[in-house]
Amino acid sequence: QDTHKFRLFDVMKWAQAKYQQCLLESPDSQAARKYLGERHLAGASVRQFGLGFAPLDGEWLVKQAQADQVPPELLVEVGLIAARDEARGYYDRFRDRVMFPIRDAQGRAVGFGGRIMPDSPYAARGPKYYNSPETLLFKKQEQLYGIDMARHAGSSAGFLAVVEGYTDVMMAHQSGIANVVATMGTALNARHVAQLVRHVRKIVLVFDADDGGNTGVDRALEIFVSQDVELAVATLPEGLDPADLLAQDGGAEVFRKALGDAVDALDFKLNQLFAKAEHGTVDGVRRMLDIILGIIALAPPVPSQSAQLKQELILTRLAQRLGVELRSVRGRLK
Ligand code: CTP
Ligand code: MN
Ligand code: MN
Ligand code: MN
Ligand code: MN
Repeated sequence: QDTHKFRLFDVMKWAQAKYQQCLLESPDSQAARKYLGERHLAGASVRQFGLGFAPLDGEWLVKQAQADQVPPELLVEVGLIAARDEARGYYDRFRDRVMFPIRDAQGRAVGFGGRIMPDSPYAARGPKYYNSPETLLFKKQEQLYGIDMARHAGSSAGFLAVVEGYTDVMMAHQSGIANVVATMGTALNARHVAQLVRHVRKIVLVFDADDGGNTGVDRALEIFVSQDVELAVATLPEGLDPADLLAQDGGAEVFRKALGDAVDALDFKLNQLFAKAEHGTVDGVRRMLDIILGIIALAPPVPSQSAQLKQELILTRLAQRLGVELRSVRGRLK
């Protein structure tokens, strides 16, 4: 079992090197290199993060594997190629995409995210990002992109920032802000938090400001209630994600300030509700209380004594901000 896993790690390492060589050296990758340049991704970070390119040719990786005598079955197993019907060979699953290796905490590639080239003939069909399927090595829901590069910086900064995407992490690093990881579009979950608390006691969530409401906040709040970790939410200028912001002049300063000004997650949620301005009335206050208590009630059972204390503190703060008795908040939670 373990030896098989190591073989899969080796295959992933081989594939990463092939895609990377293709991006850096092949004439077929000129458009991809230009695209990354236009996005302000520096050559040094492209190398650091091991980016590559999967060409349009539908059997490019299949042929590379033949030449290097890599067994196709292993490439099928890690989700990079697939078998054609009736034993008519194999085809590449990633085509005309910039390849982002997703690495575990030890820096081993366990999966790939592939971004379609903007003017690709395939752009209108498949999704913007295509990911490795679930494999023995890759569980997308558990992975934090950039954790291998960010964990030490996180320990020294005292917190890790969690953004949505690959380029957000890369642009942050490139701007000298290295304590940043990405959940790759999924909401922060308990397994993410379990990994993060190995390095820090504080997490700062940074959502794209491009798609309206911060729907991830509620999920994150549930986790925060039952875990022994501080959670804050940073706000970016309207319309931007971190990568967009960091590509602008002075963007790094704005991003740094946003991280510094991050608001405690409970207050962030309360501010959101207060902004909807129905708090003037008794019913409005009760509705707000029920929304927050609903989130707290959904949280997994409180494991530790300090988390229990934390829940008490949360209820106290709720009572204060809403101007009601702690007793009634506790009563209503039951
Ligand atoms: N994502 C994904 N599959 C998709 C869309 C998004 O896995 N079809 C993940 C990727 O990890 C992506 C992240 O969600 O980086 C955030 O999504 P989005 O904000 O849409 O993408 P960006 O990272 O901003 O991508 P880009 O700047 O290249 O458009
Ligand atoms: Mn999004
Ligand atoms: Mn987005
Ligand atoms: Mn984005
Ligand atoms: Mn983006």
